[in-house]
Amino acid sequence: MSNKRFPEGFLWGGATAANQIEGAYNLDGKGLSVADVTRFKPHVSVEDYKKNNHITTQEIMEALEDSDPTLYAKRRGAQHYEHMKEDIALLKEMGFKVYRLSIAWSRIFPNADDEFPNEAGLQFYEDLFKECKKHQIEPLVTMSHYEPPLNLVLNYDGWASREVVDMFVKYVDVITKRYKNYVKYWLTFNEVDSMIRHPFTTGALVEDRFEEGTFDQAIYQAMHHQFVASALATKITHENIPGSMVGCMLTKMTFYPFTPNPLDVLKAQKQARDNYAFADAQVFGEYPAYLKAHLALKGIEIKKEATDDEVMKMYPVDFVSFSYYSSSCSSANPQLLAEASNNTFKGVKNPHLPTSAWGWQIDPVGLRISLVDLYDRYRLPLFIVENGLGAHDEISSDGKIHDDYRIEYLKEHCKVMSDAIVEDGVELLGYTTWGCIDLVSASTNQMSKRYGFIYVDVDDYGKGTFNRLKKDSFYWYKEVIETNGESLFK
Ligand code: BG6
Repeated sequence: MSNKRFPEGFLWGGATAANQIEGAYNLDGKGLSVADVTRFKPHVSVEDYKKNNHITTQEIMEALEDSDPTLYAKRRGAQHYEHMKEDIALLKEMGFKVYRLSIAWSRIFPNADDEFPNEAGLQFYEDLFKECKKHQIEPLVTMSHYEPPLNLVLNYDGWASREVVDMFVKYVDVITKRYKNYVKYWLTFNEVDSMIRHPFTTGALVEDRFEEGTFDQAIYQAMHHQFVASALATKITHENIPGSMVGCMLTKMTFYPFTPNPLDVLKAQKQARDNYAFADAQVFGEYPAYLKAHLALKGIEIKKEATDDEVMKMYPVDFVSFSYYSSSCSSANPQLLAEASNNTFKGVKNPHLPTSAWGWQIDPVGLRISLVDLYDRYRLPLFIVENGLGAHDEISSDGKIHDDYRIEYLKEHCKVMSDAIVEDGVELLGYTTWGCIDLVSASTNQMSKRYGFIYVDVDDYGKGTFNRLKKDSFYWYKEVIETNGESLFK
């Protein structure tokens, strides 16, 4: 079918992360990751979920002693480890062209500093990639998605320790050599900017393990190490897999000035740049001037090795990927204004937008604005690797899941992607919806915050059969893919 809305070969698909979907947290030689000690807290309100991401050493020790599996939801995930073949077959049934997943570092190097990789872990992903190949699904692999091995917390200063760069490079060398015949598209660090907002899950950093007053320094040092590690990962991937494409991954935060007051506009610009800084560093291969100024003002001096700047400059990424869920407003005087939650941050509520059940503001037009801004800024191909609606799904009396709210959300976002391609000239490689198979929420550890086309029968406490059920959105997305997006405009 000829198509004007989306280019031929557009990569339609969905995304997951190992720590949220696999389960099997201690099987076949896997080591613990930071995700395995984060808990579902039934009495924490959704508004306070940010606290879930700030963990103390005492909480980690309690988690290590706790043998009650109920609340450590990421330890069981959606049992994808056991259901892998069935899951990939379901993705194939929807016609997926691409499947974004992450490799759990702790399945390959259980403690990150191990001498040799764990063969059982390597085999699991090889089997998975073979299934993808069998079904002509292109894998898009995140090397690190909120799952650094826990040993980096307990015996190192997380990503603030320089040695971690070498450990990561070794891991990347192993996986890119092993999967060179299966994986062309790679992402280095998921939402690399989230080091600032949740340093534990991104950087294996726990505040109480640092001398008082030095945590900010540690966070930015860890950021620097990830920039260098990402550049080296790009180099190695290109060497090990000729023709491979390596992308950075940004949480795209879209800020509108709350009013035309220039101070609100200035605030929106500042918040946008605080976010762009992370992609700027990975695309342009150097610290942007405003990030350097910000660090100087904070009195933070990054410790660099002699070749770090050169490495960052020599090995920038090939494309820019990002997550987009919602937008928010910026105000120079936010105190009296209503707040809106967002993907791991809070902003000023936009009175023109509806919100999800978790208070995230729904803004498809903001996706088009984001695509245009990113393409103008970087002039590199873009890839939307997360987008979706977290919602409560119910099984109806007819045994089906009628998730028309999800269809509506995705449909509006897909339509503006086409507008950005056709009217704004944006080069967009593909689109992977978040949590295509229901999985455990990153922020709240809830199973009941569902994003999938495929329902997984398990509740927040791990009760259920883990059986897979196709939601209405499953059939809707299948048609979108089959028609390369034409059905969106029927
Ligand atoms: C992104 C993460 O921030 O948002 C995912 O990369 C996460 O891991 C997704 O699951 C949605 O957030 P949440 O908190 O609803 O799971």
